[in-house]
Amino acid sequence: MKHLRRAEERSKQKGSRDLQEQHFFNIMEIPDLSSMKLLSRPELFDFEGVSMVHYFTDNWEKVKNFQARPDDILIATYPKAGTTWVSYILDLLYFGKDAPERQTSQPIYMRVPFLESCFQVIQSGTELADNLSTSPRLIKTHLPVQLVPKSFWEQNSRIVYVARNAKDNAVSYFHFDRMNMGEPEPGDWNTFLQKFMEGKNVFGPWFDHVSGWWEKKQTYSNLLYLFYEDLVEDTGREVEHLCSFLGLSTSVEEREKITKGVQFDAMKQNKMTNYSTLPVMDFKISPFMRKGKVGDWKGHFTVAQNEQFDEVYKQKMKNTTVKFRTEI
Ligand code: PPS
Repeated sequence: MKHLRRAEERSKQKGSRDLQEQHFFNIMEIPDLSSMKLLSRPELFDFEGVSMVHYFTDNWEKVKNFQARPDDILIATYPKAGTTWVSYILDLLYFGKDAPERQTSQPIYMRVPFLESCFQVIQSGTELADNLSTSPRLIKTHLPVQLVPKSFWEQNSRIVYVARNAKDNAVSYFHFDRMNMGEPEPGDWNTFLQKFMEGKNVFGPWFDHVSGWWEKKQTYSNLLYLFYEDLVEDTGREVEHLCSFLGLSTSVEEREKITKGVQFDAMKQNKMTNYSTLPVMDFKISPFMRKGKVGDWKGHFTVAQNEQFDEVYKQKMKNTTVKFRTEI
């Protein structure tokens, strides 16, 4: 904590006019989350036409009425598409240089609140976001586009959407549901895959999520649509892409340093980004930072499952122009 205070003082004293100067650092304790072990697996139910669990709807009035700010940056994804990766990149781009201590004292889920989350044992996402003193505030959501609080559109906040190909996304989601007691019981791989094709997952169908956000991009210019596959292929290029969208003049050296620091192995070793501080996840079943690959689906889908999936995919994606790569 002392480090953070010193960083804040230093930042205030420096008096330079560069962009980083506007940031003030939030001082928070790492919460005691041991009671999270007691969370029980929730049931799925229909919420405004989307499959949900109560952990993401219990605080709905506050979520719906959340007051976004013009400088907020919303990181939106379907679950398991690269949220943590992009959150960490943005956190480093904005705060890494002036407050490196922040990176070692606060887990990423405290630095980048999960807007709709309401787990009781930890402050809700809206409370965490309201208490953030950084500028900009980085906020995470998995909401489909039609459920995003309207203030984000009214304030013209910037949004970074990350999408991942359906097959790898499904595999990652399956392993996540196995290890995360805050998610519904996934059953075996085939059971999960059938449910995934029907959109019976928390946050609804992958198909509607990625295509809904893609359509939004056509009319809302403050939305950057990124692909997980592009990030894996060339992280440095995508960091540059982010800087240009956000109007950041981060130096080449700094970008290279960030690119190195956010590679899969580095994030897997890093307690502040690998979610090992959240007891609701059982890493003995599967780690949060699992494989981090494009094409891992090939080791999960049978030939029959793949054919069935391709058929469903063709049907469900026939009205959208968004295109994915399932290998690179
Ligand atoms: S969550 O729970 O929805 O916030 O999960 P999310 O962060 O969106 O996605 C987790 C998957 O992203 C992978 N990941 C990475 N891949 C490559 N490089 C880096 N640096 C990286 N960071 C996270 C993570 O390993 C999960 O994918 P799988 O396929 O399960 O490994």
